[in-house]
Formats: sequence, structure tokens, C-alpha cells
Amino acid sequence: MHWTQRILTSSLLLAMAISMPATHAQNPASTSASSEQNWWKNAVIYEIYPRSFQDSNGDGIGDLNGITTRLDYLKDLGVDAIWLTPIYPSPQVDFGYDISDYENIDPPYGTLADFNHLVAEADKRHIRIIMDMVMNHTSDKHPWFIQSRSSKTNPYRDWYVWHDGAGETATSPGVPPNNWQSDFGHSAWEWDPTTRQYYYHKFYIQQPDLNWNNPKVHEAFRNIIKFWLERGVGGFRFDAITTLFEDPQMRDEDVLKDKNGQSFRNVYGDIALNDTRTNNLPEVHDVMQEMRTTADKFDSNKFPGTRVFIGETYLPNIGELAKQYGAPGKPEFQLPMDTQIGFINKLDIAAFRSRIDDAETKLNGNTPLLVFDNHDNPRLDARYGDGVHNTDIERVISTMLFASRGASLFYYGDEIGMKTTPPTRKEDVKDPVGITGWPKDKGRDGERTPMQWDAQANAGFTTASAQPWLPVPPTYATVNVKAEESQPDSMLSWYKALIQLKKNNPAFAHGDNVMLDTANTKVLSWMRQTAGSPSVVVSVNFTAEPQTVSLTVPGAGSGIKTLLKTPGAAEPASLGSIHLGPYGVFIGSVQ
Ligand code: NOJ
Ligand code: CA
Repeated sequence: MHWTQRILTSSLLLAMAISMPATHAQNPASTSASSEQNWWKNAVIYEIYPRSFQDSNGDGIGDLNGITTRLDYLKDLGVDAIWLTPIYPSPQVDFGYDISDYENIDPPYGTLADFNHLVAEADKRHIRIIMDMVMNHTSDKHPWFIQSRSSKTNPYRDWYVWHDGAGETATSPGVPPNNWQSDFGHSAWEWDPTTRQYYYHKFYIQQPDLNWNNPKVHEAFRNIIKFWLERGVGGFRFDAITTLFEDPQMRDEDVLKDKNGQSFRNVYGDIALNDTRTNNLPEVHDVMQEMRTTADKFDSNKFPGTRVFIGETYLPNIGELAKQYGAPGKPEFQLPMDTQIGFINKLDIAAFRSRIDDAETKLNGNTPLLVFDNHDNPRLDARYGDGVHNTDIERVISTMLFASRGASLFYYGDEIGMKTTPPTRKEDVKDPVGITGWPKDKGRDGERTPMQWDAQANAGFTTASAQPWLPVPPTYATVNVKAEESQPDSMLSWYKALIQLKKNNPAFAHGDNVMLDTANTKVLSWMRQTAGSPSVVVSVNFTAEPQTVSLTVPGAGSGIKTLLKTPGAAEPASLGSIHLGPYGVFIGSVQ
């Protein structure tokens, strides 16, 4: 499912040598060269929406120096890497995903020197910085597009996707070349009167798609990747990566039909279409192999450790996800996001059981990247909560996230149980898609509200007198880092405990993931096992009623030692009798 179907759907070298972090901090003695290479396989990755994380200068907008001041918090949480959504210069129509300069920092977020400082301070804490790499499109204010639209003979004309209208005459643009739609609503073609052609934009009108059939576009991005690798980044998250290519024959998308065989309209009022002509075309694999080769060849003596490629990979099935890792000798992503699991968007036990098992058995031994939340979807409460047990349900979700094999990616604020807080009035909406879709789709502001640090005015996100760019939700009085740090039963304490288990318990750190009790329609149970360490069992109750499960682990006794359980739950007497409260969680080591 695509995210938009949200539920409701060299002279430089000297300067660099001065301003860049000089060397990569040495990891502790226990950290081997192999763990530097494999750090990502059991990584805890934290997504920061920089605009909303921490403001350091009182302008109501989060910034890089703000993030740097919170690194100790992230270290304490157990984070290995931070993915920053785009911080490059941008008109901010799509809050950074419309980039006008790929090799700088947008002034509200800081400077390249601030960025270098962030990388150096993160490195001291063994935290990597992952950049968002937007290759599908630029801002319409990027110099490449300004050139491109200026004339049909401009050298940059062919950097974007231009096409004549259908039925054009000397006085009329005709109509768009075909029925392709923007993921943000309406036609994906925009008429440009200067040169009397349409350009293609998969996203906002201000985000023209680049033409990936042009080798110069490839070269430009290889250089951008090297620019950031030279600054010591730990990798990239590739935005909208499946949308790089479009059908060269320009065929219309097929119209989707409902269960009665009828076409229907989407939240933007458009006829709903399939996206097989504009999404997941096979040429993307060649581009990713090329970019991976670029990164892998980068001089790794300066900044040791693997640079990880994370993919925004909303795909229709596990087979398509498996392809994203590449083939032997032709690697692509180390960690394409498994959105099959995290965006089921309802507590459907059969779906979770089969999809988590698919991640274990159908990815050719590659590492799954689990993710349940991000800046494009309502938070966990809105997609999985029942309104009564939301906190317990968030424990269920986080248990699947951290206790399954693979790397775990989560979104800032989920660790304290932040809730979705959409705007209540159309005039307050900041995300343009929320204006197009109002009121069915209120846009993404609700999941982008400021981080709640404490119970002071503006929740410690910015100064008390500042106007945060989005309002601080009223929950901040109780849902905040400071309060939760001192509460053993808080969501924050739960996240920290799960992350510590993931890092320190050998079965959790690298054990196989084996489903147990697979006929159970109420409780999802699985085991993590690795040679030389006790196996670990996990049971999560998918219902609002208490449940009891009886588990057997082949070759093991029935003794059980609790490692973590829902606050207040009873200790189980044995593996054969595990009691779970509503949406309760139990994790134990088999004795
Ligand atoms: C996916 C990003 O996560 C989203 O925020 C953005 O609007 C689109 N790609 C377009 O870049
Ligand atoms: Ca600021």
C-alpha cells in the first residue's frame, strides 16, 4: 500500500578539512571491525522530523543545533542511527521534500558547520546520521528546473519529464498527455506556458520529476551522495524510490474497481487509478546498484563502517520487497523498509503472523527493516488504537517492532506515546495535501507536532514565548520525556527495556524468529533462538479480553524467567500457563 493511501489512507577540500569532524571516533575496545561492518543488522534507527524535534534559537522551528543538544537522550534510549528528513535548502512546500540545493542546509535548520558539529557529536556517541535522499524530483525552484523550463533547447530541458499536451492547438494547451495522477491529488501533468508543454510531477506541482533516462541526472546524484559521504554520514534513506521511472509508452493507468466492479473516487475526488505505469518499474534496480557501488567504493578509511541504504519501499508483496536487496554481486538496499508489516493498520493477528514470518523466510536471509510509523501517516494510536487501550496497544506494536528479527525503525515521539493531533480547522492546515483533501484527509500535520520534552510551556520544544510552527498537543502536560523518565511503567521505560533486550540478549540480538502456537487467533507468540543461549518467547494479546497461552519450545523444559511484561501483569508459573491481560505482553527466557 502506498503511504498516500493513508487510513483516512577540491578547493573545497581545504575548507572541508577545517570544518569537518577530523576523525571518526574509535568505538570501544569491544567493537570489532566486523561489528562496524554489520552495525545495521540489529540497528535501532530513529526518525527525526527536524522541524519538530528541538528548537535552539526561539524561532519556533526545530533545528540541527537543537538535535545536537538531545543526543544524550537518544544515546540513553539506545539509538544507533538517526534518519533526518530533508534539511536541505527548500521552499518548504512539502516541508523539505522539495529541494532547491542538495549540497547545503536550509538556513532555518542551521549551516553546514552546524551539520558537521552534529555528525561529530553523534559520532562520539556512536550514533550515525542518515540523510534523506530525494532523487525522484526536485523543487521547481531548483536551478536545474529553472533552466529546464526556460526553453526547449536549454541543456537542462532533458533533466525533467516534458511532454506535449493531447489535442494542443496554437491557442489551447489541449489536455494532459494521459490520465496519470499525482499522489497528492489531480493530474500529474502541469502545463507550462513558456514552452507550451506539460511537465510530470508525481507529487506536488512544485516537485517536478527528474528524467532518470538522462545520464547527467545519474552523475549529479552520484556526486551528491559523495558530497554527504565526505561529511561522514552513515547512509541514506531513499525517498519515493520506486517512482523514478514512468512507462516510456505513456499508457494510461488502469482504473481501479470496487467489489461491485464499479470505478470509485479517492479522497481527493479523483477517479481511483492503479499505478503500474508510474511505480515500481524495473529500471529502478539499475539505479540503486549504481548508487550502491558509488557508496561502497567511497574511501572507507576516513569514516569506517558500512554506509547503509534504507529504502522508502511501499510494495505490493514480499517478492517485490525481496528484489530490493539486489542480487549476489549486485547489491541495492541493505534495509528496504518492510511496509507490508507495519502498515497493516489494524490488529489483524493472521496478517501479522504471516507477514512477520514472510520477513523471516522469504527475504533470502536478508535483514528485514521493520517500521510501523513515520511522518506521512497518523501515529500508532490513530491506526491501531481502540480508544480505550491505546497505551497497551502501543506496547503490542513496539514489541513486534523490537522483538522480531531485523533492524527497527521508529518515529520520534512514539517512545513516549505521542498521539496524532490533526488540525481542527482547515485554515490552520500547513501540509498542502490537507487542504486538497479536507476534511476527509486533513494532511500530515497531526503526526508532525513538536516533540514533548517536559511540562513547561511549549513542552520544552521551544521557548515559552515562541510560536511553534505547529501547535504543541495538550497531552504534553503528562505525555513528555521528563515525566516518563522517572516512571518505571511509562512508555519511555518500556521502549528502553525493549531496546536493551534487543541489543544485549543474544537470542534477541541475532536469533532466528520462529512462530509458535500458530493456530491461536487471539495471541501472537513467537520464539527467538540462537545456539549457545537460552531461547526467548514472546506472547502478545491481540484482544481486549484476558487470555492464557500454553507454549512448548522443542527440546526445552517448561521453566520460564520473565524478561519483560506489561506493567502489573502476573508472573507465569511455567511456559504452559502464561496469563495476559487485555493487549498484554509477556517476554521470557526459557529455562
Ligand atoms: C515520501 C515522503 O516521506 C513524503 O513526506 C513526501 O511528501 C513524498 N515522499 C514526496 O517526496
Ligand atoms: Ca529554530
